[in-house]
Amino acid sequence: MKTLLATCLLLTTAFAAAQDKAIDRKVDELLRKMTLEEKVGQLHQLSGREFTGPASGKHVNKLADIRAGRVGSMLNVKGVAETREIQAAAMQSRLKIPLLFSLDVIHGYKTVFPVPLGESASWDMAAIELSARIAAREAAASGIHWTFAPMVDVARDPRWGRVMEGAGEDTYLGSRIATARVLGFQTRQLGGLDAIMACAKHFAAYGAAVAGRDYNAVDMSLQQLHEVYLPPFKAAADAGVATFMNSFNSLNGVPATGSSYLQRDILKGQWKYKGFVVSDWASVKEMVPHGFANDLPDAAGKAIHAGSDMDMEGYAYTAHLAKLVQGGKVKMALVDDAVRRILYKKFELGLFDDPFRFSDAKREHDVLNDPSHRQAARDVARKSLVLLKNENAALPLDRKAKTIAVIGPLADARRDLEGGWIVKSDADNVVSLLDGIRSHVSPDTKLVVAKGCDTACTSDKDFAAAVAAASTADTVLLVVGESWDMSGEAKSRTDIGLPGLQGKLFDALAASGKQVVVVIMAGRPLIFNNIADKAPAILYTWFAGTEGGNAIADVLFGDYNPSGKLPITFPRSVGQIPISYSQYNTGRPLLDEKNVVYKSAYIDSPNTPRYAFGHGLSYTGFAYSDLALSAASMAPGGKLTVSFTLSNTGKRAGEEVVQLYLNDPVASLVRPLKELKGFQKIMLQPGEQRTVSFTIDAGMLAFYNDKLALRAEPGDFNVMIGSASDAIRLKAKFRME
Ligand code: BGC
Repeated sequence: MKTLLATCLLLTTAFAAAQDKAIDRKVDELLRKMTLEEKVGQLHQLSGREFTGPASGKHVNKLADIRAGRVGSMLNVKGVAETREIQAAAMQSRLKIPLLFSLDVIHGYKTVFPVPLGESASWDMAAIELSARIAAREAAASGIHWTFAPMVDVARDPRWGRVMEGAGEDTYLGSRIATARVLGFQTRQLGGLDAIMACAKHFAAYGAAVAGRDYNAVDMSLQQLHEVYLPPFKAAADAGVATFMNSFNSLNGVPATGSSYLQRDILKGQWKYKGFVVSDWASVKEMVPHGFANDLPDAAGKAIHAGSDMDMEGYAYTAHLAKLVQGGKVKMALVDDAVRRILYKKFELGLFDDPFRFSDAKREHDVLNDPSHRQAARDVARKSLVLLKNENAALPLDRKAKTIAVIGPLADARRDLEGGWIVKSDADNVVSLLDGIRSHVSPDTKLVVAKGCDTACTSDKDFAAAVAAASTADTVLLVVGESWDMSGEAKSRTDIGLPGLQGKLFDALAASGKQVVVVIMAGRPLIFNNIADKAPAILYTWFAGTEGGNAIADVLFGDYNPSGKLPITFPRSVGQIPISYSQYNTGRPLLDEKNVVYKSAYIDSPNTPRYAFGHGLSYTGFAYSDLALSAASMAPGGKLTVSFTLSNTGKRAGEEVVQLYLNDPVASLVRPLKELKGFQKIMLQPGEQRTVSFTIDAGMLAFYNDKLALRAEPGDFNVMIGSASDAIRLKAKFRME
């Protein structure tokens, strides 16, 4: 059997290598026929009708430029009719090189899945891969070849609106999710009619913008860069991601778009990356206001030297690259290398065989109306919801309750449930939470509905009506949160509380003596201390997508037992930010919250977050016991197994995400108190027990030392098994020789 598998693997590898060579030959042949202008054309990406960045202010005759071979790709186009028309123009160019059509298909195309941060809370790689798979299927049927996703930026600052688009704060979880998303979009091999190219963005360290302000500078040690921020990109590259996007921020003084260190040394050098790099929107041009380039020609030269292959809406390459080559400032070989990478992908997608192969009206109609996609969206959404608090089993609700009051600005929202980066969906198709509740409760249950205020909640004039409605009910549900456009790109906030007077709406309801169960919708961690203190139950739902209302109602009424865990820390106050579970110790650690004098502490707040990374409750209980290590020590390069028993101690079947954290207590550089190095999501029936094991190897103990070498250092290590980063249930130690 083993030999058969090995032979299959060898044959597949040999076949892939032969295919690569065949494409290389075709690319070379085409390149020989191209003029310099046509080569530069391949490096120019234009936006279609919609703009997802500042307009260039240029008057461009797009179709004329395409016919003249001056455009290689377009973003912000969609649909079979539109892409056919534009591709037809490309077919009138001298060499008939097909265009690549790209779009930000971030969490669904027509069927909207939860925002990426929400999906990440599922810790369920199959669900995340499926979501990307369906998004790709729909987009590919609608003429799209390429999505600008996944965003794999580690993000530890919830003021930054783009935390919504990523996998949260953790490097390991983020790397696993990066792999799942890339495989979901691309499948194992590009070229299928339901596979689109993915794009790992934003390279690099964009998530660490100073003060959480979008587009801001980043300054960080190289250890931090390599250890925390780069691994998800490496994981995406290893999974075969077709493209990378660089980023707006400067990193240690160099705009990422002009960084040879990032793009040439690391990505194309050390990682031997064969795909291409697209700039972010006008980020080549923006090196001028950064103060890194004198003018547009200088920016074009710096970007191509640094390894940015395609210029998105920056008009720097199209206007200046040919002249820079003719003037001897840029070598033709650099342009050839960029063009080669792009043409390679066009061949790989099969566009030279049939430039219209993704633009089939019948397929578009069938795929966009496939009912299984909505079913999947509901399932992924249920897995993404996080039960933050549940005292006295306030949840699940009784579906036979006589009267349920559904209060709050988001109770019947549709558009908000879709979140940001919506490309082809229709808010009318979204199931609001109220719709979901209606279809879950018994026919005799009466629903009373009051908004209280709109999402901005600038006035309390309707609070009294909401309180009156609640007073008639035996169950009160309050649905609050952000509107969809409060998180995402260019949506940084200094105050991440509930908008306006929403918190006061809760206070008004609670003051009436009712138990108020709270549902919070948002694209980022919010701060809601009064609710956290007083509400008996809180369900955090992110923006849960097209089927959000059904998914949330599934959890509220107990048809689905919640299993989500936070992929990012929820602070108590903005003053604690940046905050993450993976912190260093100090020389004056806070050991006793009551004695903060001369300790690393605040005088007005605990150090601990409101809800820690990895936190999330279930309707059942889980016990952890019998931790065992396969050996007390590990040889260098060896392995060790840690195992324990997980039991479902409650009355319902449920899933637990068990988390493995490691710590190197003494090393040549100080190490974080905890680092996530493994997790498993395990379904157990009531009373069921399972032995769970993780293998620990030297790679999991390694870190970047002061020479930037990745090494594990001999010594003691702590092993922690937890149900959250602040709920460590089992501990052990071992030595590495
Ligand atoms: C964003 C990218 C996005 C691009 C194209 C930029 O402003 O930073 O993430 O892919 O626009 O829409």
